[in-house]
Amino acid sequence: MKKERTILYYDRIDSTNVQAGKEAQSGAESGTVIVADMQTAGRGRRGRTWASPAGINLYFSLILKPEFAIDKASMLTLVMALAVAEGMERSMTGISGGGQADIQENTETMSVDTPVPRIKWPNDIVLNGKKVCGILTEMSVKQGTIEHVIIGVGINVYKQEFSTELVDKATSLEAECGQKISRSGLLEEIMDAFEDYYALFEKKGDLAELREFYNQKLVNLDSEVRVLDPKGEFTGIATGINDKGELCVELEGGSTVEVYAGEVSVRGICGYV
Ligand code: BTN
Repeated sequence: MKKERTILYYDRIDSTNVQAGKEAQSGAESGTVIVADMQTAGRGRRGRTWASPAGINLYFSLILKPEFAIDKASMLTLVMALAVAEGMERSMTGISGGGQADIQENTETMSVDTPVPRIKWPNDIVLNGKKVCGILTEMSVKQGTIEHVIIGVGINVYKQEFSTELVDKATSLEAECGQKISRSGLLEEIMDAFEDYYALFEKKGDLAELREFYNQKLVNLDSEVRVLDPKGEFTGIATGINDKGELCVELEGGSTVEVYAGEVSVRGICGYV
């Protein structure tokens, strides 16, 4: 049976995250999704802009009104990253989800030519080592409690020209899998996966139940990474996330550092992943 969800669609808008914030303030229910064909002021992480031309990509923002403590909100970005990777995989293989059994089945029946979406910690999705999706989570807090959380997702769907700065590290679903995937179908697969994963997140209020799935998709797993910490850069081997979504990085001497996403980013030793 199809799940019912409220989706508000715009041909053109400044930013789905901004619009989602306004809708949330005006009483939109938790679970409402704002989608646009084009954004005139798409927002990326760290104050960057997110190029959002019409007709070729998927831009959407999910409104959540959770009742848990503020410090748990950053984990929602990882839940969405997992759902995006899963939704993409289902869309590319044509195998739709419906539970954990299907998640296993997808991986086993995937054609050798279909690239597997991987997560670059904490929340970029990569295909063949290039970024295909970014996620920006924003939160409104009043008197120490969460009013709403907006999880904004931008996915490069069809083939396109990237700026000189991005050409070596960005890609699209079509460029990597050779298919024109339906944007509305992709959104539906992602939201179906998100709802399943969010239920698992809510059980314990952390990523304990999702950690294994996330680590299976982690492009950095068991690889050497460079941690760009404003307090000092260091390298180590990424051994996966912990229940809070921090990346565990094993240093040369054998000790492990748990890296919190906030101000820190991670790179591969030779480049982006
Ligand atoms: C990143 O910098 O990697 C995050 C990019 C997030 C872009 C999406 S597109 C839909 C939503 N609306 C926005 O303005 N930003 C997010």
